[in-house]
Amino acid sequence: MKVPVDDYLQQVLGECAGDEGEVADYIPELAAADPDRLAVALCVADGTVYAAGDADVRFSIQSISKPFVYALALADRGQEAVLDRVGVEPSGDAFNEISLEEDTGRPRNPMINVGAITTHALVGGDECSEQDRCEQVRAGLSAFAGRELSVDEAVFASEMETADRNLALAHLVRSHDIIAGNAHETVRGYVRQCALLVDVRDLAVMAMTLAAAGRNPLTGEQVVPEAVCRQVLSVMATCGMYDAAGDWLTNVGIPAKSGVAGGIIGALPGQVGIGTFSPRLDRFGNSARGVNVCERLSNDMGLHLM
Ligand code: DON
Repeated sequence: MKVPVDDYLQQVLGECAGDEGEVADYIPELAAADPDRLAVALCVADGTVYAAGDADVRFSIQSISKPFVYALALADRGQEAVLDRVGVEPSGDAFNEISLEEDTGRPRNPMINVGAITTHALVGGDECSEQDRCEQVRAGLSAFAGRELSVDEAVFASEMETADRNLALAHLVRSHDIIAGNAHETVRGYVRQCALLVDVRDLAVMAMTLAAAGRNPLTGEQVVPEAVCRQVLSVMATCGMYDAAGDWLTNVGIPAKSGVAGGIIGALPGQVGIGTFSPRLDRFGNSARGVNVCERLSNDMGLHLM
């Protein structure tokens, strides 16, 4: 019997509704999230979006912004200039560690905080003002989503109160001449980028845009060149789920990125973009139920790349 996609997604959520994991609390505003929220959306190549659960709930994008800002930096500055400043190797450390190459001071990859602070600083060039860079990032991520995104000012303010570690990371890369601008301005911009509000439909469309070689399936806009998407998806595959990247790639088998507010994206080239949301996180900082939902979707629909 054929089950409509929305019903199937609802069924998957029902079967993945455990209560493992903890809501992130190092950003005070995130600790207030309802831990029981659960949502999933799929966007397929023709732009059709299917969704189930708390699909209308918006949350901050957090680290899921990192692959998209990496894409903007690559499109803006070119692959060589970006590779000069940020590597592409998994760090084997937590997302907020000081994972710098010993000889060069280059952050190991753009999916950890120190690398993402650096790629944020690359957008718009060294002379770009804080405000212009923030607007370029907001507009760029909006083009990936196919609608105008905005910043959750409460999440932004809350994270700035506890941003000491990111400030330390920005000062470190600046001391190595990896970023040119003021460390405080750069971290403010990076934290604003992380506070952009999305729902799972937005995430599914953003992921599908990467999976569709940079062309947004809703608007038809070519947001970034195809070669940029190849680079971004490759780094997502090896570094997107932090120290759980190996488990993820063997079990789910698609390029992905998680965020500390509980979102996950998965992007299967040419086929589907997935967005999930559930705030409780596992010990790697990835959404516990989101990982289960993606694993189930991958098994049921044969999404594993290998
Ligand atoms: O910089 C931070 O710590 C947060 N704005 C983002 C971290 C994050 O989402 C880690 N991902 N699971």
